[in-house]
Order: sequence, then structure tokens, then C-alpha cells
Amino acid sequence: MTDTWNSPEKFNREALQWDENPRRRALAQAVAQAIIAAVQPAKTMRALEFGCGTGLVTLEVAPLVKSVSAIDTSSEMLAVLSQKIHNAPGATIETTCLDLSQSPNFTAQHERSFELIYSSMTLHHIDDTAGFLDKISNLLSPGGLIALADLDQEDGSFHDDPLEKVHHGFDRTALAVQLQAAGLDHISFETIYTLEKVNSPGVSASYPVFLVTATRAMS
Ligand SMILES: C[S@@+](CC[C@H](N)C(=O)[O-])C[C@H]1O[C@@H](n2cnc3c(N)ncnc32)[C@H](O)[C@@H]1O
Repeated sequence: MTDTWNSPEKFNREALQWDENPRRRALAQAVAQAIIAAVQPAKTMRALEFGCGTGLVTLEVAPLVKSVSAIDTSSEMLAVLSQKIHNAPGATIETTCLDLSQSPNFTAQHERSFELIYSSMTLHHIDDTAGFLDKISNLLSPGGLIALADLDQEDGSFHDDPLEKVHHGFDRTALAVQLQAAGLDHISFETIYTLEKVNSPGVSASYPVFLVTATRAMS
């Protein structure tokens, strides 16, 4: 059971089996395709993924950009990704184990350093959404893009452990207000996937996943 935000131990335990779940692989494929279609990655872009896990999304995006800084709090998830990087010619991926929400040194050193920041199913693991969006907005170069995939607001049945501290998805309107407050504009949401799973009460249910894209102002 996990009763704190951001538990690397949970993801460390799950890392070796993470990619075996076809539902996760299908979602990651859909997210990667949606990000690629929405942001049109270019070889000039320095990109960052927070909560990259085993790299299911990053391994699709990385060949299309200059470099990816792949960040996660779970060293075991990153160890799985590191193994795969050896078999990814043409991609420059640097892994870093850190909690991006609690890393003032990283954020200070990398202000305005990325043309693209993306993530999949990680924002709901970060306690202070508004504060975090502010931090990642400062990492974007002027005109830089974010593309974040996550759950629409759900009733709390998505995660199996009722004690796990997570956001129960996001209300799009409220998230848009937070993105705007973080200095981002051209905010756009689309539904990119619907996860079907047997939820914590044991009922088969549908959970829509959105991709939100937004741009850092030029000045
Ligand atoms: C649900 S998993 C998604 C993994 C991957 N994006 C995927 O689609 O397969 C969430 C990931 O976010 C990481 N994570 C959670 N909180 C984080 C934080 N504050 N900073 C960086 N990574 C974090 C976890 O370790 C985990 O690998």
C-alpha cells in the first residue's frame, strides 16, 4: 500500500514487468502517436519527458528530435529504459533519476532549455499541479511546447490501491486555468484514447485519456 505522493518503491517493484502489460503498451503507442501528430517533432528540438518509466513513449519520440532528457523517480524503471537505449540507434536519450517537482537545482540549471516537454500518465502522481506546471513552463524555451497525456476526472476507481495518493484525473477546464497561469497559451485538449480496465471495485469501466498541448509565450 502506498500512502505518500510519489513512491519510487512501487514503480521499482513493477519495473521489470511493466512492459508485459498490453494495456500499457497500447496506451503508450496511442500517446506517442498523438504527441507526434500534435507537436510535429523536429531534429532541432531538445525534449524532456517527466515520468518516462521504461521509455514506452520516449523510444517513439526520441528518433524524431535532437535529444531527450528522460526523467523518472524510479531507478528501476530507468534501468529498464537504459537497457533499451542500447538498441535505439539514431536516438539520443539521457536518463536522470530525480523528482522534477522537488529539484530546484535541475530547474534552475535548465531554465528555457527545452523546445518540447511531454509526459504520459504522470501528472496525476504529482501533488501540487499548479506549482509543477509553473516549474516546467520555466524549462521551456520561448515558443516551446508541452504535450501532457493523462486521465480525465474519474471517480477514484482507476487505481487499485485506495491509499495511493494520486489525483483522480483532471477536470479540463480547471487544468486549462492552471496552464494559463503558468504562462502557457494556445491550450488545446483532445481525447486520444479510452482505457478499458477492471477497476478497484472489480467492475469493467472506461477511462478517457486526454492530450493537452500548449505553448510558452515567445517573450
Ligand atoms: C503511471 S507511470 C507512467 C510511466 C510511463 N510514462 C508510461 O507511460 O509507461 C508514472 C511514472 O512517473 C514516475 N513519477 C512519479 N512521480 C514523479 C515525479 N515527481 N518526477 C518524475 N517521475 C515521477 C513514476 O516513477 C512512474 O515511472
